[in-house]
Amino acid sequence: MTATSPRKLDHIRVTVDSIVEHGVTTLLEEVEIVYKALPEASLDGIDMGLRFLGKKLSAPLMVTGMTGGHAAATRINCAIARAVEELGLAMGVGSQRAAIEDPGLAETFSIARRCAPSAVIVANIGVPQLVKGYGVGEARKAIEMLDADAIAIHLNAAQEAFQPEGDTDYLGAVEKIRELVEKLDKPVIVKETGHGIGMEAAMLLRSAGVRIIDVSGAGGTSWVRVESYRARAKGDEILAEAAESFSSFGIPTAQAVVEARWAAPDACIIASGGIRSGLDAAKAIALGADLAGVALPVINAYARGGEQGVKALLERIVAEIRAAMFLTGSRSLEELRSTSLILKPGLRSILESRGVDVQLYLNGTRLL
Ligand code: FNR
Repeated sequence: MTATSPRKLDHIRVTVDSIVEHGVTTLLEEVEIVYKALPEASLDGIDMGLRFLGKKLSAPLMVTGMTGGHAAATRINCAIARAVEELGLAMGVGSQRAAIEDPGLAETFSIARRCAPSAVIVANIGVPQLVKGYGVGEARKAIEMLDADAIAIHLNAAQEAFQPEGDTDYLGAVEKIRELVEKLDKPVIVKETGHGIGMEAAMLLRSAGVRIIDVSGAGGTSWVRVESYRARAKGDEILAEAAESFSSFGIPTAQAVVEARWAAPDACIIASGGIRSGLDAAKAIALGADLAGVALPVINAYARGGEQGVKALLERIVAEIRAAMFLTGSRSLEELRSTSLILKPGLRSILESRGVDVQLYLNGTRLL
């Protein structure tokens, strides 16, 4: 077994047993979608469907990549896969590095495809591995392992910076991503892991040909906080405190959605990081995202209620998206994307200080 798998199991334990969320919010509380007392819509007639990675989703929701590489992960990936297959949603698996290095672990990932033969499934590798030498061959292996519809390249510089064993060399990352975009025959998604993709990174990614960006902003799981717990448990108090100082660092999800859409207007934007309800998801979509992603609540639902727990959670979020669409008179996702929106002063001033013309964004860019 490689060193990666025990670490991944450790990560799951910490996320389920401890408070691992940012001390900052997503800033979605600064976004209001306006209630329509007379919606020209019927709740049952709301069309939440969209096309994503060449397949039809019944609602704009994906479970973003979390796990693989150990026995518990096999059960978790199958439970998530069964739920998304039944509900017509999408899922990603966690980093496949362990299985690329030790093919004996492939089953802990490929189970997802067997449990979800027709769902959208996304493979996953990390940008640090690309910098260290992974290339098209390893990415193809990851895709083939799952018969995946796309591959997500995760960015986790903040987390790596606070791991004693962290991979902290990002030099040349954009060129490696460009190479994958050009040579793979499946789409490349670039995702953060809870500290946010802002306009500078979104612009670089768009220039490298990336068309799908999962902003994974601050406000939900903080991987720096997870590393702080791990360092403390190992008696490394200096690293633990340094990590704690950065545990709420990053770009909140609402800000990241606007910045990514502003910088890459024609990209498909996934809003994740702290999405905890269908109302959060609907607000993020009205703000400019194409779909929403959720991770930590899914692993917690699995820990409490197994496969049924995962399914119940996802059903609840989908029902809430439907309700939010009905209550804003949005019969389709296209109508939700153009629904009336209030941005409160906190988010508005942050965006202005970042150079976003908020009025132009709300009346133009977000509607593209
Ligand atoms: C993750 N995440 C993650 N992302 C990734 O690209 N590869 C991975 O291996 C993992 N592993 C992982 C494990 C666990 C237990 C969690 C909770 C999360 C990050 C995840 O996809 C997501 O971007 C962030 O967690 C932010 O979303 P939430 O958790 O706030 O909904």
